[in-house]
Amino acid sequence: MRSVKTSLTGIKPTNTPHLGNYLGAIRPALKLAETYRSLYFIADYHALTTMRDPAALQESIYDVAATWLAAGLDPNQTILFRQSAVPEVFELSWVLSCLLATGQLERGHSYKDALAKGDVPNAGVFYYPVLMAADILLYDTDVVPVGKDQKQHVELCRDVAQRVNHVFGEDTLVVPEVHVGDAPLVPGIDGEKMSKSRGNGIPLFAPAKKLRKVVMSIKTGSESLEEPKEPEGSTVYQLCKQVSPEAAEAMATELRKGGYGWGHAKQALFEALEAELGPRRDVYQAMRADTPALDRILDQGADRARAIAHKTIGRVRHAVGISATSSADLKKTVRLKPQVG
Ligand code: ADP
Ligand code: TRP
Repeated sequence: MRSVKTSLTGIKPTNTPHLGNYLGAIRPALKLAETYRSLYFIADYHALTTMRDPAALQESIYDVAATWLAAGLDPNQTILFRQSAVPEVFELSWVLSCLLATGQLERGHSYKDALAKGDVPNAGVFYYPVLMAADILLYDTDVVPVGKDQKQHVELCRDVAQRVNHVFGEDTLVVPEVHVGDAPLVPGIDGEKMSKSRGNGIPLFAPAKKLRKVVMSIKTGSESLEEPKEPEGSTVYQLCKQVSPEAAEAMATELRKGGYGWGHAKQALFEALEAELGPRRDVYQAMRADTPALDRILDQGADRARAIAHKTIGRVRHAVGISATSSADLKKTVRLKPQVG
């Protein structure tokens, strides 16, 4: 039916994207964009589960947009847009929520983690996976490139899409596949999962001096310079392996030989990062400074995204029996089976 497959992913504008976002989501997504129709968006309404500062949210939206572009996204090929520019996503999320058992949301890891920490999560945290499923299903997505931490959300999306299709007709929604690399989650400078909220990130487009300072602050062992060292299990080596496997191999050989300190390893990692990110830094700065140009790109992307969304939402309304359709059309729709409650 559809000749070109679709890849879609979103990034929350909760801060400036870090190396984990780049290696876990942005780089693989850009690789897929070479062969798939691609829609990459800024999940601004998802950010509202935590963000309370409108000015900071606005700035982060531009940070994420400029990051995608500096990382190599071609806005003529890939549809880059704000989630909020296509409000049909809320209409679809309501339909999906009517097909989902609350228990499935209770098992959501972000929600469970928040409860385990003794937090009182807002309802947005609970509902988060439904909105994410709607993001994916609204655009007939075939593949969702995300980091490992998002796998559960995509699985829930698959479940609910299958359920909709079972109840309302097999052609209602496209059931997506998750695309997660083999690499483990990218560790932060403290060795824990790199995360915006943890403040352990390696910034993507900070000036070289700042980048080097952050790299030099990565936690390492305390062996002497002369001692041979085991690379596996060290954060510096883990990071290097994901940035540049060749540089990591050379680093591992040197560490095992001895006479090579953790400081040398960090310098090697810094150089690998510079080779990957250095050339993109100026592009980032130029794009980030030109917010009218970013708005134009995001608005054009939203127009293209909306055209796809309208078709899906029309199909869904028709399937569930809400659109004003002719009686002949209605006869063709599948009746709701009374099994949800
Ligand atoms: P954060 O966890 O820092 O708030 P987001 O939740 O906005 O980042 O994640 C955006 C994308 O980046 C998602 O696909 C997520 O899986 C990926 N990602 C985030 N942190 C990491 C990490 N440490 N390693 C690999 N991928 C990551
Ligand atoms: N939940 C994702 C995250 O926290 C962001 C996101 C929102 C997303 N909607 C999406 C990712 C749809 C992939 C597809 O990182």
